[in-house]
Amino acid sequence: GSVSLAWVGDGTGVILALTTFQVPFFMIRLGQSKLYRSENYGKSFQDVTDLINSTFIRSEFGIAIGPENSGKVILTCDISGSLGSRIFVSDDFGKSFTHQDLPFTPLMQISYNPEDSNALMVISNNNELWLSQDFGSNWKKIHDMVCLVKCTIFFTANLNGSCSDRGVLELRRTTDYGKTIKTVATKIYSFGLGGRFLFASVMTGKVSGTLRMIHVSVDSGDSWNMAQLPAVGHEQFYSILAANNDMVFMHVDEPGDTGFGTVYVSDDRGTVYSKSLERHLYTTTGGDTDFTNVTSLRGVFITSILAEDSSVQSVVSFDQGGEWVPLQKPANSKCDATAKDPDKCNLHIHGAYSITTRLNVPMLPLSEPNAVGLILAHGSVGDSISVMKPDVYVSDDGGYTWIKALKGPHHYAILDSGGLLVAVEHSPTQPINEIKFSTDEGQCWHVHKFATEAIYFTGLASEPGARSMNVSIWGYKDSMLSQYWISITIDFRELLTRDCQDADYVQWLAHSNDISDPKDGCILGYKEKFLRLRKDAVCWNGRDYEVNTQPTPCVCTLDDFLCDFGYYREENSSVCVEQPDLKGKVLEFCLHGKEEQLQTSGYRKIPGDKCEGGETPQRKEIDLSVRCVSDLVEPVTLSLPSLSQVGEHSNSMPVAIMVIIIVMLLSAAAGVVFIKKYVCGGRFLVHRYSVLQQHVEDNGVDGIDDPLETNHTQNGKIEFHDDSDEDLLE
Ligand SMILES: *[C@@H]1O[C@H](CO)[C@@H](O)[C@H](O)[C@H]1NC(C)=O
Ligand SMILES: *[C@@H]1O[C@H](CO)[C@@H](O)[C@H](O)[C@H]1NC(C)=O
Ligand SMILES: *[C@@H]1O[C@H](CO)[C@@H](O)[C@H](O)[C@H]1NC(C)=O
Ligand SMILES: *[C@@H]1O[C@H](CO)[C@@H](O)[C@H](O)[C@H]1NC(C)=O
Ligand SMILES: *[C@@H]1O[C@H](CO)[C@@H](O)[C@H](O)[C@H]1NC(C)=O
Repeated sequence: GSVSLAWVGDGTGVILALTTFQVPFFMIRLGQSKLYRSENYGKSFQDVTDLINSTFIRSEFGIAIGPENSGKVILTCDISGSLGSRIFVSDDFGKSFTHQDLPFTPLMQISYNPEDSNALMVISNNNELWLSQDFGSNWKKIHDMVCLVKCTIFFTANLNGSCSDRGVLELRRTTDYGKTIKTVATKIYSFGLGGRFLFASVMTGKVSGTLRMIHVSVDSGDSWNMAQLPAVGHEQFYSILAANNDMVFMHVDEPGDTGFGTVYVSDDRGTVYSKSLERHLYTTTGGDTDFTNVTSLRGVFITSILAEDSSVQSVVSFDQGGEWVPLQKPANSKCDATAKDPDKCNLHIHGAYSITTRLNVPMLPLSEPNAVGLILAHGSVGDSISVMKPDVYVSDDGGYTWIKALKGPHHYAILDSGGLLVAVEHSPTQPINEIKFSTDEGQCWHVHKFATEAIYFTGLASEPGARSMNVSIWGYKDSMLSQYWISITIDFRELLTRDCQDADYVQWLAHSNDISDPKDGCILGYKEKFLRLRKDAVCWNGRDYEVNTQPTPCVCTLDDFLCDFGYYREENSSVCVEQPDLKGKVLEFCLHGKEEQLQTSGYRKIPGDKCEGGETPQRKEIDLSVRCVSDLVEPVTLSLPSLSQVGEHSNSMPVAIMVIIIVMLLSAAAGVVFIKKYVCGGRFLVHRYSVLQQHVEDNGVDGIDDPLETNHTQNGKIEFHDDSDEDLLE
């Protein structure tokens, strides 16, 4: 069986737990769901299965929680046979549910409009786009043959054919729930959203139409520019690794099945790109990359490269992709067998790739914006990532220095804005009853026995946002006849009783390594001083704790600028020089559209850079319109006349929905917590779930009606469920 957890609302303490048990039985699936509800952060649960009339809920769709504090919940039923499909909806934080019968069968989880939680959208199993404006009571079919929908505004469709005819799709937009629909681009292969940018990969028509290129729009598809990125063929893909309103990290796959590609960083228009990292690991098979935005410190990113010798190595950037370097070796650890020189090696971090390759890694790296500087991650110390049992490493300065914190794999969580770290050893085969915690950012760990009787541990669950003091330990007990779920919630307020005072905080300059240097701590044009909890302070930050930062601008240097289109930097030089062979050449890319975009001064501030004074590169406007030839097949293809009149179009993109769901499968196997980022209208959604795979081994199904019954597992195999390839543009 599995259990899915969802926090309903923010700071409400309401948790819904959905347990499902299913067995494949010939062609149909037999299953049973039970719903539990807690109002006290998981301390106690009430069985509310009768609210859903004991219907079987499709756990792969999870629990759809409405945006903000709307208190809305949707559960999608699985009714095998001819009964049609049904959803259960609640608008009172799961206290009561009503059912709605759908005139279609959903193919995916129903999604909310982040700005209006009554507006729902979903694609049916025969690719129809359906919409409801009254929270599921009435449904309207908007469009046929819809392939992909994002942010309830954009969708791709193929009127004549099927969604597998990539490259002939149309990208359409509706801002009024389907009343008017406008085609914003044609010959689309796929599209994606990142920050304020809308990206579409468009067939070029050249070389018998097998190549496609990225086009970008910052006005929701009204006008497009071609991105200065290499074109890709059929077997390659593009992927948005991370994006905000300033810039985007784009991965471009290498031709052939190499498992790597190149990372590019964009300018503020999303059109001019600089090469950031080569041989970036991104497998086509698993669709996995280790690319991680370290959210606890501005500008820090960690990822992996595939070295020439096929080993996987971690690299870190402290300046938003400007430069990538290996991670420093922790002072308290020795180089392992992968190191040629036993005294010189680096730390390597296990990310999503290690999890797909089924290494014993129960969790991805963890950082939280309100736990400044903190990173927890599994890793190994050597010349490359090791396949041996990983340990847990902690950094308190955003990845500059690391310490080995815990031996062996663990599940971990950040509580009280970083004031408290908790970890439970990952031991799939041994029952346990101990939780470790640290009040000094992972330097010292204490042990607390949470139960007298040990349980098979499956995962940790704490309220998203890392402000909580409550953490739930999920697991199960194995008795002669059955297995049943156990959840134990610990309130660490009983330990950290004192509220933190001013004297408990110290000043800390981020990105600092040489105080004598006036540029010390400058990243993207400014430095930031934070007030951080002293390591020896044992106190409670509180739910209302706000990160206290004092940014001060730095003086500009040429390194605060990118070279604009038509300019480049010579090696080891900061000066942008004009491309001498520009004239008469068909360039890879061309800015077209508004006139002022055709002019450049050679330098452009790095997106997000806030430096002041200092170097102000001479402005030299060159009209590039005469110098470049657009690579676009037919210049008009991107802007077809609208199908119908489009109403007033607002530039503000919808606000993100926060959906957090944790899924744990009851089994003696390994656990995985996976954090997935959805980009929708410039904000990030974090979708977190932990999956424990049961080894499907038929040793006689008994107790079908017992939802907690499961087959026994031999080995700690991890099955990784990637719920969608949202970020993949392809
Ligand atoms: C459960 O079933 C009963 C009787 O069939 C029905 O009256 C009730 O509305 C159902 N409840 C929900 C939430 O669908
Ligand atoms: C759909 O099919 C018709 C006739 O076969 C063709 O003329 C039209 O161009 C097709 N439209 C698209 C969008 O492929
Ligand atoms: C990285 O995460 C931080 C904190 O959540 C966010 O502010 C920033 O925009 C992200 N950067 C990118 C490029 O996604
Ligand atoms: C922990 O849970 C209790 C209820 O059991 C709640 O009153 C308290 O606010 C929670 N603490 C935090 C910091 O969320
Ligand atoms: C650039 O600097 C690196 C390291 O300082 C050096 O190895 C390389 O030769 C330099 N390249 C040029 C063209 O000066």
